[in-house]
Amino acid sequence: MIAAIVAAAGSGERFGASTPKALIQLGDRTLLEHAVSSLSGVVDQIVVTAPAGFEDHIRTLVGDDVVVVTGGATRSDSVRAGLAAISGADFVLVHDAARALATRELAASVVAALRGGDVAVVPALAVVDTLQNVDAAGYVLTAVDRNSLRRIQTPQGFSYSVLKAIHQGAADASDDSTLALNAGHKVRIVAGEERALKITTPSDLATALTFLGGATTFSTGVGVDAHAFGEGRQLWLAGLHWPDEVGVEGHSDGDVASHAICDALFAATGLGDLGSNFGTSRPEYAGASGVTLLKETYVLISNAGFSISHVSVQIIGNRPRIGARRAEAITTISQALGGAEVAILATTTDGMGLTGEGRGIAAIASALVIKR
Ligand code: CTP
Ligand code: MG
Repeated sequence: MIAAIVAAAGSGERFGASTPKALIQLGDRTLLEHAVSSLSGVVDQIVVTAPAGFEDHIRTLVGDDVVVVTGGATRSDSVRAGLAAISGADFVLVHDAARALATRELAASVVAALRGGDVAVVPALAVVDTLQNVDAAGYVLTAVDRNSLRRIQTPQGFSYSVLKAIHQGAADASDDSTLALNAGHKVRIVAGEERALKITTPSDLATALTFLGGATTFSTGVGVDAHAFGEGRQLWLAGLHWPDEVGVEGHSDGDVASHAICDALFAATGLGDLGSNFGTSRPEYAGASGVTLLKETYVLISNAGFSISHVSVQIIGNRPRIGARRAEAITTISQALGGAEVAILATTTDGMGLTGEGRGIAAIASALVIKR
C-alpha cells in the first residue's frame, strides 16, 4: 500500500495573498487540487494537511476519498500530523501543495525507485546559476562547484518505517530528505522536473501558468442592471437585506448587484443572459433572490466547463452606504459563486442622472472566467 501526504498547511507569507497559498488558483483549479491530482492513480491513499480553519473548505475541494487533517506550525509538524493519519503503508510520498505542477510520472518514478529497494528517494535538478559563499559584509568568500549540487523537489518517497522513524521526535527541516540524511539513511535522487517548481511568489505562479500552456483560456464579460426605488419594498442588494432602506421595483428581489454579476458571467461564457436563463418563460424563478440567481448561474457556467477567476461589481447610487457591510456582501456573493474572488465597490454620480437624483440604484459588473 502506498500513501501520500500533501503538505498544504502553510500560510504563504512570501506569496502575500489573503488566502493560504495552497488555495490559490492556478488555471482552472487551486494549487492543492493540482498537487492532489498529480498523486492520484499513483498512490492508494492521500492525506492533506490543511491550515487550521480551512479543513472543511479543503474537504469540499478534494472530495471524500482524501483524508484532511489539521497541519502544524512548521512543515515538519504538518508532515507528522499527516503521518499520524496513515497506518499499514509500505511507502509514503510526501509532496508540497506548492509544487502544484509535478507530474504523475514524477511520482511514479519515485515509487519505482522505492520498489527497487531505496528507502528515501527525492527528485533533483541541476543548478544553473554560479554559486558562491559570501560573508556578512557583502563580499564573496569562496566559489562553490555547482556540478555536484542539486535542487531537491517533492514528491519525496520513503519506506514507511524510515519516515516514521525520522519523525519520531520533533526535528525540523525544510524537507524530509534532510531528516533522512541526518538520520544516516541513503537518499537516492531521481530526475526532477522544472514544472515541479515550488510556487513561492506571484512571479512563480506566472511561470507555472506557462507550463499549463494552452490548456486554459480566459474570457471576460460585463453586466449592467438598474432598478427604481419603490415605496413599501424591502431593499435587497449584493446578496444582503438592508432593513432601514427603501427597496426597488421589480418582479425579482431587485438585487441589481447580483443581477449585474449574473449577466457579466453569462456574457463571459456566452451562455445567454438573465432574461434567457431565468426570465418569464421560467416561472420557477419569479421572485427568486439575487443569491439564488447567482447560485443557479454558477451551476450553469460550471456545467459548461467554466470556472471563475474574478468578479467585480460597482454599485451606483446615493444609498445605501456599502462600506460598513462590504465584507459581509463579498462573503455572501463569493459563497454563492463557489468561493470565487469577489470585489465590491460603490460610487455616487455627483447628483447627476437617475441614480444621482436618488431615483434608484444601478450596478455594473465584470467577470473573468477560465474555460477548462
Ligand atoms: N507547509 C505546511 N505546514 C506548515 C508550513 C508549510 O504544510 N506549517 C507546506 C506548505 O503549505 C507548502 C509546503 O509546506 O505546500 C512548502 O512550504 P512553503 O513553500 O514554504 O509554503 P508556506 O510556508 O506556506 O510559504 P511561506 O514560507 O512563504 O509562508
Ligand atoms: Mg514556509
